[in-house]
Amino acid sequence: MERRTIGAGALGVGAVGLGCMPMSWAYTGSQQRGEDSMRTVRAALDEGSSLLDTADMYGPFTNELLIGRVLKERRAEAFVSTKCGLLVGEQHIVANGRPGYVKRACDASLRRLQTDTIDLYQLHRADPEVPVEETWGAMADLVTAGKVRALGLCAVGARASRRAGAGVGLHDATIRQLERVQQVFPVAAVQAELSVWSQEALDSLLPWCAARGVGLLAAMPLGNGFLTGTLTPGQGFEPDDVRARHPRFTAEMMAANQPLVVGLRRIAERHDATPAQVALAWVLAQGPQVVPVPGAKRERWARENAGAAGVRLTPEDLAVIAALPPARGSWD
Ligand SMILES: NC(=O)c1ccc[n+]([C@@H]2O[C@H](COP(=O)([O-])OP(=O)(O)OC[C@H]3O[C@@H](n4cnc5c(N)ncnc54)[C@H](OP(=O)(O)O)[C@@H]3O)[C@@H](O)[C@H]2O)c1
Repeated sequence: MERRTIGAGALGVGAVGLGCMPMSWAYTGSQQRGEDSMRTVRAALDEGSSLLDTADMYGPFTNELLIGRVLKERRAEAFVSTKCGLLVGEQHIVANGRPGYVKRACDASLRRLQTDTIDLYQLHRADPEVPVEETWGAMADLVTAGKVRALGLCAVGARASRRAGAGVGLHDATIRQLERVQQVFPVAAVQAELSVWSQEALDSLLPWCAARGVGLLAAMPLGNGFLTGTLTPGQGFEPDDVRARHPRFTAEMMAANQPLVVGLRRIAERHDATPAQVALAWVLAQGPQVVPVPGAKRERWARENAGAAGVRLTPEDLAVIAALPPARGSWD
């Protein structure tokens, strides 16, 4: 698989990573047998998808535990990217960016992951009660201590910045946060939603990253599965599935957004590929520092998604995708 580098430290990874979240969180079936999940992770490594994206809160904790079982066998092939800063409570998920907490969270992640070093340690969400420089300073100490190789910031919760008012870009608050933490310690990668149906990161965030040699991990690159063309409008989702509450997964919006799937499928046929692979190839085409982390529970999907690294979209394909109607349905 093609390799990409993220961050000024030039960390090498396979161009397509593996999002491990669906194995333990957010989707129906996320409590599938550990053996099945481990088979999926091993398949991703077999195919060259070295970047395994997890978080302490997925499960909580069980996702890191299962990644750790694979790392025990195959640490040298993997690039482990995990996250801290969100705690799963009885009722709510709360941010905790206190320096002492972050350091304890890192030690706990290292134990669960059965490794001495985390390749990329990401702040899942900034804690509004703690200046982000303090949290980031504690994370920088972890690099100095050799527990972490590089630092990243997640911008997936940035929708609040758009709600702040007209004319405020989705990622404006993220960029302000990035400028602040860069003063303390370099950012190697930003994680943000980026897919054919959520392209806001292209406006200002990706240019910001490109100008500074910062990697962009594209979260939800398959539009939570919609862009794969395997979901049917009106199929319904179990209450434990994030899509049961997602405004783009009502029967009406899934039907309204079918032209996106139809467009991807037409291009896929020309490349002897699948719509999922074309959706990921589009993400890869956005810049050499972009690494999609498609989520998958199933081994079959992990192998198929890795194959997207071999799909080269032509300028005509990219023009067809650019001309597709913007996705309908929004969180705002
Ligand atoms: N930093 C953050 O706050 C944040 C937030 C969200 C996500 N993320 C990261 O981004 C990753 C990806 O996001 P995501 O998993 O929510 O969304 P996604 O990658 O857009 O879509 C995942 C869904 O697509 C399905 N799928 C995957 N490959 C497929 C294929 N080839 N054909 C058909 N269906 C396929 C999966 O099914 P199965 O599960 O059945 O295999 C899963 O339901 C996560 O794993 C996580 O690492 C980070």
